[in-house]
Amino acid sequence: APSDPDLVARAAAAKAKLGSKVFVLGHHYQRDEVIQFADVTGDSFKLAREAAARPDAEYIVFCGVHFMAESADILTTDAQKVVLPDLAAGCSMADMAQLQQVEAAWEALTDAGVAQSTVPVTYMNSSADIKGFVGRNGGVVCTSSNAKRALTWAFERGQRVLFLPDQHLGRNTAVLEMGFDADDCVLYDPHKPNGGLTQQQLGEAKMVLWRGHCSVHGRFTKSSVDEVRMRVPGVNVLVHPECRYDVVTSADYVGSTEYIIKTIENAPAGSAWAVGTELNLVRRLALAHPDKQVMFLDRSVCYCSTMNRIDLPHLVWALEELAEGRLVNQITVDPKTAAEARSALDQMLALP
Ligand code: 13P
Ligand code: SF4
Repeated sequence: APSDPDLVARAAAAKAKLGSKVFVLGHHYQRDEVIQFADVTGDSFKLAREAAARPDAEYIVFCGVHFMAESADILTTDAQKVVLPDLAAGCSMADMAQLQQVEAAWEALTDAGVAQSTVPVTYMNSSADIKGFVGRNGGVVCTSSNAKRALTWAFERGQRVLFLPDQHLGRNTAVLEMGFDADDCVLYDPHKPNGGLTQQQLGEAKMVLWRGHCSVHGRFTKSSVDEVRMRVPGVNVLVHPECRYDVVTSADYVGSTEYIIKTIENAPAGSAWAVGTELNLVRRLALAHPDKQVMFLDRSVCYCSTMNRIDLPHLVWALEELAEGRLVNQITVDPKTAAEARSALDQMLALP
């Protein structure tokens, strides 16, 4: 649906009044009505860097989800304020790893005698607390575009990895990109004592995968792929590595959000693409490339509901409040956690 013209005018007026004091970041999974006001769009990694590269902007309005706003706060100066237009924009995957649970897992690894030789690696899609835990235990953050490099770095430093919180990104990277056997991975369930594993299983695994997943990407199935191949002969299947292992292995191409965009941009006219990632992005890609047939991998999968919490009314409200000098919905990370998380983020930025 087209955006309400009154709200569009109000957002534009508030943004103009704020001028260079405000910088609006928009994640690729955001609604069109919000993306039109983004000064820059990107995946979570690119947006974190963009926030860090704007020290003159007093306010960073983050149109994305909570963990991204936290990372922006960690990477920006103390004087800058990060604003999330709706505080309910969380991430179900990030919520699947709570600090207490991760500390209990580390104790289980300690009891199995292997914590010292374990390097924790966390996906960007995790809370600042978890990044802090990883930082103080000598680990690194990764994104879907550098997971292999992060794992390579980690295995140069230890014999095993505790991978948080996305089991699929961890397994897909270890097995498909690093050449590990499926048996080298075990699944740690935070809701079971000792993760539901024996000490021997914990001690012998190379990859201890956290039992977390994305509630959007986790819904694509192998039958989604089989079905689209039947329906559209010659279709190319392109998916995000947050998808399940059997989806990724039956697809033709796999990669991060930025990779997906570039792949469609570079595809020849007339080619057909079934894309397994968030629907707002797939719809924009289809509209931007009318010479190609770009479709959603499975029409029974829907938007990321928390990404969609950020809508035009919330953005207008946040911009108008800021324009009146009222700071609303600020996201802050306490200094100790921020320093520890920053070391894990800096380690990622320094990956070869
Ligand atoms: P990227 O932004 O790193 O592509 O992550 C995908 C995602 O699910 C973000 O919430
Ligand atoms: Fe979290 Fe998945 Fe939504 Fe990304 S798409 S914010 S990982 S639930």
